[in-house]
Amino acid sequence: MSDVKKDSTVFEDSIGTFLSPVTAYLADDSVSEVMINGPQEIFIERKGLIEKTPAFFRDEQALQAAVRNIAQFVGRRIDEDHPTLDARLPDGSRICAVLPPCSRKGTTMSIRKFQKGNPTFVDLINRGSVTKEAARFLDVCIFLAKNTIISGGTGSGKTTLLNVLGSRIPNNQRVLVIEDSSELKINTDHVVFFETKHGDENGNGAVTIRDLIRSALRLRPDRIVVGEVRGPEALDLISAMNTGHGGSMGTAHANTPYDALVRLETLAMMGESNVPPAAIRRQIASAIHIVVQIKRLADGTRKITNISEVIPEVDDFGRYVIHDIYKFIQRGRTQDGKIVGEFIPTGYIPSFMHEIETNRLPFTRDKFAAPDWYVKMKEADKKAA
Ligand SMILES: Nc1ncnc2c1ncn2[C@@H]1O[C@H](COP(=O)(O)OP(=O)(O)OP(=O)(O)O)[C@@H](O)[C@H]1O
Ligand SMILES: [Mg+2]
Repeated sequence: MSDVKKDSTVFEDSIGTFLSPVTAYLADDSVSEVMINGPQEIFIERKGLIEKTPAFFRDEQALQAAVRNIAQFVGRRIDEDHPTLDARLPDGSRICAVLPPCSRKGTTMSIRKFQKGNPTFVDLINRGSVTKEAARFLDVCIFLAKNTIISGGTGSGKTTLLNVLGSRIPNNQRVLVIEDSSELKINTDHVVFFETKHGDENGNGAVTIRDLIRSALRLRPDRIVVGEVRGPEALDLISAMNTGHGGSMGTAHANTPYDALVRLETLAMMGESNVPPAAIRRQIASAIHIVVQIKRLADGTRKITNISEVIPEVDDFGRYVIHDIYKFIQRGRTQDGKIVGEFIPTGYIPSFMHEIETNRLPFTRDKFAAPDWYVKMKEADKKAA
């Protein structure tokens, strides 16, 4: 038995003891996340929807003891001086906890359960998160080494989608994956995984995403994948994308493709306050080619809502120019609350169509044609305006 597997089995036995009030949910494959808001309030996410459970911990002490034991198990600390914990458990689940008084209701903890297996485009298509055609288009973008940002809110499915897209990188390319706490399972022939390191009590010895991107650049990567861009490393990723590491990818927390670029801009400015914002904006516009927006919709489903192209220049007002190539349009809602809609091409032909054609990729221009109902709807909107 490998050490990792051994660790995981020992951990599963221990977690049963630490977290006995919620072990049934942790063992239930239909539950994807367990959220504990103090000892008396436990919610779960099942099939994308959040529901309250009757489970509870005996008292705050019992809950805190569980959190401390878990932290100890993974070699980390959580106490009054360090009241937050963000860690990956040996079984691959992700855990985040905050102790009182920072957390007013009592210890708050969420456990994002590890999803077995490697997600693929087929899984996303079967779940209705993307259409077959759009998945094929994303494949084209990856083949053509378009730099891509996956944008979405918390828990919208960004990391899962990055796993899928990253695993489509051609096998002859060297991929360097950089993450805060290791989550990605990118599955290609030549992939190296880097993870940041926490510093000691005084912050000494910490290794950040920025440090790792800089090292990665010296390690002859073809592509760099950053799990989540949430700090000044945005600047390093953008520079890498602009300097010959085409086809690099990352995720960012934002609600629209435009906001994703603005978010990167804000983060990049944390990295270099001397560079004028207009210069950073131009760098971002030329670095990022594609933004894929993913959302958790009100009915609990997770869907790609936009695949958009970023034009490598800003307009006269200094704004990014973004065109949706595919877009999700909601067309109604069933009586039981399910969202009915279609993910359609908008009629916009990507500026790199000639690259698709010269590389003889089987994705013809006509595939970008919008359905008639959408064209009519747009015309009606224009008239009304
Ligand atoms: N397309 C999908 N359809 C259904 N469930 C999904 C889909 N993508 C992800 N999920 C589930 O949603 C949860 C969140 O997914 P994921 O970790 O990928 O989101 P995230 O946006 O990266 O979250 P965070 O913002 O916390 O990093 C997981 O339980 C995952 O299994
Ligand atoms: Mg994530």
